[in-house]
Amino acid sequence: MVHPELKGERLQTRAPAARLAEAVGLARGIELAVVHAEVIRVPRVRPATLFGRGTVDRLRALVKGPGAVPEVFGKDDDTDDDEVADEEAAPDDGGPASVDVTIVDAALSPVQQRNLEKALGCKVIDRTGLILEIFGARARTREGRLQVELAALTYQRSRLVRSWTHLERQRGGFGFMGGPGEAQIEMDRRLLSERIVRLAKEIKEVKRTRAIQRRARQRVPFPVVALVGYTNAGKSTLFNRLTRSAVVAKDQLFATLDPTMRALRLPSGRHIILSDTVGFISDLPHELVAAFQATLEEVCEADVVVHVRDMSHSDSEAQREDVHGVLAQLGLEATVDAGLIEALNKIDLLPPEPRALVVNQALRRAPPAPPAVPLSAATGEGVAALLAAFDARLAQSRQEIEAEVDLADGATLAWLYAHGEVLDRHDDERLAYLRVRLDAADAARFARRREDGKI
Ligand code: GTP
Repeated sequence: MVHPELKGERLQTRAPAARLAEAVGLARGIELAVVHAEVIRVPRVRPATLFGRGTVDRLRALVKGPGAVPEVFGKDDDTDDDEVADEEAAPDDGGPASVDVTIVDAALSPVQQRNLEKALGCKVIDRTGLILEIFGARARTREGRLQVELAALTYQRSRLVRSWTHLERQRGGFGFMGGPGEAQIEMDRRLLSERIVRLAKEIKEVKRTRAIQRRARQRVPFPVVALVGYTNAGKSTLFNRLTRSAVVAKDQLFATLDPTMRALRLPSGRHIILSDTVGFISDLPHELVAAFQATLEEVCEADVVVHVRDMSHSDSEAQREDVHGVLAQLGLEATVDAGLIEALNKIDLLPPEPRALVVNQALRRAPPAPPAVPLSAATGEGVAALLAAFDARLAQSRQEIEAEVDLADGATLAWLYAHGEVLDRHDDERLAYLRVRLDAADAARFARRREDGKI
């Protein structure tokens, strides 16, 4: 994994080393074993290979494995003033054993990618390619998958790359980048273009029918709590921790939920569905924005959005701004204002003083700032408080409704008793008249049940 530090990049808020670490985390997230990672300063971009010749030679030696690394580099070979700025974590045997893929954490032109592949003697993937892999693995909704496929094909058309065949076989992944789709690579540009046009049409169609899909989703009988946040903030760790610390609802209904959704019972007895989402990534390539937003679609349906933050990260504040920006782009300000909770994660990594500061600031939060819960998904500290915060957030939105239910409609009566607090009831021969307190989400669900003629 190499992160080129391009001229002018130093003006960015994020340090190259942090960006390299993020890219390594992303690669590990899709089961790649990263054997070498470094930041390489690129004072002058070469149109043919991005890096200068000295750097390319050195990378080739690294790819070939131990023993092939030149002892001195950057001295008298054609070093062009490229220099190694930072080197991290090569394995102790002095170099990677065999390298299948080199990831360049930047946008490569098709020509650069091809030339580097030739020069290094291995597959070369750029940042867009890496992120597409991740989205492909995480897209769930039909629109999400279509959007990712569209982005991938558009990207592929520009370079007709032969991609991670071995990886796809191992992971049985999305399959748009090689593997079983190897035949796809033989498709010529014309076929790709046709497929792209078809996909764009399908996406339009899916968007039109989204209202129907949304309805199907709203049949999910419990409020949805969605975890969002930067990549590596600890969403998955928290997701696993929460599903272990709360009682997982055993319900036939959820046998079909996908692995990033889990039904939980909160301390109050209230049931929720917890949903994990794809992580945010700094400097998302612009051609991937639509695909990313589509993978976040379920957040639009959430009753509570939990923003998981890595408080030990030096860019924590910048990340927070980014996340808010994207949620606003998704048109989620309203949901977010009503139901946002910040999970201030990884406080176990903070030294006592900054830690006390985070805890105190969280305690002093008052509306309109969203409530914040300091915690550690790793140690479990603070997690109970987060579950209580879900309860509080959901209870805030409780509403009273009045309902007339046919006495023969046992299912609806049972639903009201299970989801709400029945405040008052009297029956005549045919109907039950109820006054019930429900969460906003449940009240909306109940209203839809009625519209659908189920009551
Ligand atoms: P993406 O899947 O890339 O979006 O990342 P994520 O947000 O799901 O992060 P993940 O749960 O994979 O955690 C990232 C890293 O942070 C892992 O190495 C975790 O072990 C670590 N981690 C998560 N929570 C904590 C925490 O509270 N304390 C510490 N020390 N490490 C944590």
